[in-house]
Amino acid sequence: MEWVLTATGRSPTNIAVIKYWGKRDEALILPVNDSISVTLDPDHLSATTTVAVSPSFDRDRMWLNGNEISLSGGRFQSCLREIRKRAGDVKDEKKGVHIGKEDWEKLHVHIVSYNNFPTAAGLASSAAGFACLVFTLAKLMNVSENEAALSSIARQGSGSACRSLYGGFVKWVKGEEANGSDSGAVQLVDESYWSDLVVIIAVVSSRQKETSSTSGMRDSVLTSALLQHRAEIIVPKRIRQMEEAIKNRDFGSFASLACADSNQFHAICLDTTPPIFYMNDTSHRIINMVERWRQFEGAPQVAYTFDAGPNAVLIAPNRKVAASLLQRLLFFFPPTPETKLESYIVGETSILQEAGVQAAKDLDSLPLPSEVKDKNNVQKYPGSISYFICTSPGKGPILLSEEHSLVNPATGLPFK
Ligand code: DP6
Repeated sequence: MEWVLTATGRSPTNIAVIKYWGKRDEALILPVNDSISVTLDPDHLSATTTVAVSPSFDRDRMWLNGNEISLSGGRFQSCLREIRKRAGDVKDEKKGVHIGKEDWEKLHVHIVSYNNFPTAAGLASSAAGFACLVFTLAKLMNVSENEAALSSIARQGSGSACRSLYGGFVKWVKGEEANGSDSGAVQLVDESYWSDLVVIIAVVSSRQKETSSTSGMRDSVLTSALLQHRAEIIVPKRIRQMEEAIKNRDFGSFASLACADSNQFHAICLDTTPPIFYMNDTSHRIINMVERWRQFEGAPQVAYTFDAGPNAVLIAPNRKVAASLLQRLLFFFPPTPETKLESYIVGETSILQEAGVQAAKDLDSLPLPSEVKDKNNVQKYPGSISYFICTSPGKGPILLSEEHSLVNPATGLPFK
């Protein structure tokens, strides 16, 4: 075995509050409209990737969550090609390694990546995954491009990945150029700007095989007349309003816009032939719960947004409201008797105490939500949610030290 050089990075996932749905160019992944997202805390939802290079490697290889996967897909190839093109000189005195710019074309890489959340949860993993791949490859290959250029490259792996190159609130500018050179993400504000926000993700139990975003949006572009109207008329105005709401930390406007945009995205799915159903009964019940609460208080209390699946992402303005939201969620969607509380609420679990829940027995004494009208006829849905993740807005990709490497330097293969 000759020398092995590695770099390890970690990238967050993100959730759109103004949705990307529809491409104007499939190969380059260019969207029909701008979108805005919030990056989520990588401690709870992220991808960690090690990229290794060695003269002993005979081809590019990749392992995802412990299994080797093919790199032959166009999206991986685009990211690898674009980063290799921009590679710089790399020197490692300790290992006596000097890789010149021109050598990268002949060297192969091994890529090992893990998500810190279960793939089966149906949470967008491609955003974190491609952002991490591009970010870490760029570090290993000493690419001097800024985040904006890396964002445009990550976009060619998966559209939403271009937004995971930054923390906080991020806008993906659709761009005008046919070659996609001006289509990439910019940071609106960093994660400390609106740090009171709390995000609770309800991972909804579902057995249904979902339509992938890629094929779903292709069908929508081809068949939904609403999509065109949304892209041309609705989104440009909403983007301006959302930017304003974020700048002013105006939670009422933020929540109204996020909910309306999620609902419009799902309306477009329904307007697609054949229609696409991403939300299920549980998703609809969560929307009803939030809407009833809003009506009772006369103002939005929390925002909800749903991607290409039934999971609800709920955003509360602060910990107090988040605790109140968690009380409601646990009231209507309690765990089954077999489910342990520690595996039902994960992430920033300290919020449970604020919700008055220290142990499973406390679930029986949760207060009746004030908006419940008929106290004698309350429907509860145990088992319809797999678990909740409590998290908050988070930072962009970071480089990790060598001790976090997922590649064994002696073999060039993943650690078992
Ligand atoms: C509903 O980025 O997964 O999450 O570009 O084809 O890889 P591809 O699609 P992807 O689509 C995400 C769609 C969405 C909305 C959003 O994240 O903006």
